Amino acid sequence: MTAFIAGLPKCELHLHIEGTLEPELKFELARRNGIALPYAGVEQMRAAYDFDDLPSFLKIYYEGMGVLRTEPDFYDLAMAYLRKAASQNVRYAEIFFDPQAHTSRGVPFDVVIRGLRRALIDAENQLDVRAQLIMCFLRDFQAEYAMATLLESLPYKEWIVGVGLDSDEKGNPPAKFAAVYERARQEGYLLTMHCDVDQQNSVEHIRQAIQDIGVNRIDHGVNILEDPKLVAEVLDKGIGMTSCPISNGYVTDSMKIEGIRKLLDLGVRVTINSDDPAYFMGYVAENLEVLNFPDEDLKQLQRNAFEITWLPRHVKDAYI
Ligand code: ADE
Ligand code: ZN
Repeated sequence: MTAFIAGLPKCELHLHIEGTLEPELKFELARRNGIALPYAGVEQMRAAYDFDDLPSFLKIYYEGMGVLRTEPDFYDLAMAYLRKAASQNVRYAEIFFDPQAHTSRGVPFDVVIRGLRRALIDAENQLDVRAQLIMCFLRDFQAEYAMATLLESLPYKEWIVGVGLDSDEKGNPPAKFAAVYERARQEGYLLTMHCDVDQQNSVEHIRQAIQDIGVNRIDHGVNILEDPKLVAEVLDKGIGMTSCPISNGYVTDSMKIEGIRKLLDLGVRVTINSDDPAYFMGYVAENLEVLNFPDEDLKQLQRNAFEITWLPRHVKDAYI
């Protein structure tokens, strides 16, 4: 790691908290909750992280989070990420969580959010890292379940800055969630969603996200380069895009670094993030490192990230 990357003040905007669950903590939580894991140890577990597309990754990701049961489990998960983030000079993060991945297996919504929230408060006080939560809906579940989750979140609205959409994109276009996103907007949530790299109908999904849903940001979205009119639209609207190069390398055949370079050169507010660092073996600093970009470009990527955060203008300015 270069000293420049290590010292650069960083901002991370595309990070699934459940994707930060390292094998060591997985074993610790399994022991605490009396759960038997089908691996002899950490090395064997890591060796089973064998995925080459989005569905094969998601299968291991959902299996892995079965050890998260109690409020202290969610607290420990988030605290471990925030400690790691602080060690990489991440100053601010917007963190996705997947409530339906927990409520669907009997863990109450309030258990999840209270644990995460407590970690965010402690990290701000103890580690000087600030963070906010983005609640993601799982797009391979029914829209009605997403709506019910949105309504369940309303008592905790002050703890959630926006909503996102993740999980398996195939056959689950943005339009499926139009009513959920409209209600989320009315409730004051900011809006983002995954348009994963090289999915079926990627460009049409990006178009729907921008034109039909009216998102504030797009997660991934590098396929936008296939449609110059959409590129012009994100430039005009200042829509940010959160890229995850190491993740791209696992779920597609390439890290898409040339595409990221092109977006940056075009002036799109593209940013670099780790997505699911415990599974893709790289936190945000490692994702910056694989780019091999000049220092000035790495700085611009961080300026982009702070600029498109969902912080009030004066707070943003203090970071930039
Ligand atoms: N959930 C966690 N990581 C994801 C990703 N990279 N794409 C879609 N859903 C996800
Ligand atoms: Zn993601």
